[in-house]
Amino acid sequence: MAKIAHLARIKVPDSDLEHYPAVKPLAGLLDLRLVPVAMDGEGLLPEALEQAARAHGAHALYCMPRLHNPTTVTQGPARRQAVLDACRRAGILVVEDDVYGFLASATTSGWSPLAALDPERVLFLTSLSKNLMPGLRTGFLLCPPALMDRVRTLLRATLLGVNPLGAELSAEFILSGAALDSAAQRRALVAERQAQARRLLPGVPSDPACPHLWLSLPEPWRREDFARALISRGVRITPADAFAVARGDTPHAVRVCIGGVERTDVLEQGLRTLANLLAEPAAMGDSFRLGERA
Ligand SMILES: Cc1ncc(COP(=O)(O)O)c(C=O)c1O
Repeated sequence: MAKIAHLARIKVPDSDLEHYPAVKPLAGLLDLRLVPVAMDGEGLLPEALEQAARAHGAHALYCMPRLHNPTTVTQGPARRQAVLDACRRAGILVVEDDVYGFLASATTSGWSPLAALDPERVLFLTSLSKNLMPGLRTGFLLCPPALMDRVRTLLRATLLGVNPLGAELSAEFILSGAALDSAAQRRALVAERQAQARRLLPGVPSDPACPHLWLSLPEPWRREDFARALISRGVRITPADAFAVARGDTPHAVRVCIGGVERTDVLEQGLRTLANLLAEPAAMGDSFRLGERA
């Protein structure tokens, strides 16, 4: 079971914020302690969440119920409700990061964010970074009314205010329909690339809305050796370690980003390289190759 999603134990009493998976450095800055929560193929395990909340006195859960980065999992309605019920019982707030939600809307119509199921408990976050461009620095937060004043104060303290140029451009993109057009194009591109990945990496789980693949490595590959071997062939992927918040049960998996590469032929070449490496016998780790000779 992957342990990727995290609970935050907030040391400052009554503090209740969290952000996105630059979560690790951010948590460090804010003096928050992150605790991993076990997941299965449907996402966060409610029992594990409740247990971790009790054991660590957590105040908040940071999660991505849709198109989870990196595992690509989208939680079904029953799991989402069970997670929310667990949060209610444990008395914890939820930060729901839906940054890839715009990619899913074509295939998951009728999907309810946690924030729609419990608007008093859930802070909902999204951003224009993945659809338009990260440089706009425009994000959106839907906040429970009871937290609004504190969140406003916090945003003022950390950001001073919204960047007016970015906000103006973002509004223009939205009002003109360009943001919607771009979202439709990105959905089409991601679906096309997932089809390409299914062709080149048959058997690797593929969600047509997801800009990533989560590749479980066959025995005896180790994540770091696999990543190193690929880098030497000009392909960069991200080992699970980058996302794990604690030592221990890090899954033997790597994330392959298929949405960010500009050219489809370059992606094709990268996926072929990856497929070829998987077909070869696993390389011996550097620890062996660099070992001292007697
Ligand atoms: C999971 C996740 N949430 C949110 C963001 C968006 O961050 P920002 O809007 O600050 O660019 C990212 C960007 O990489 C992300 O991977």
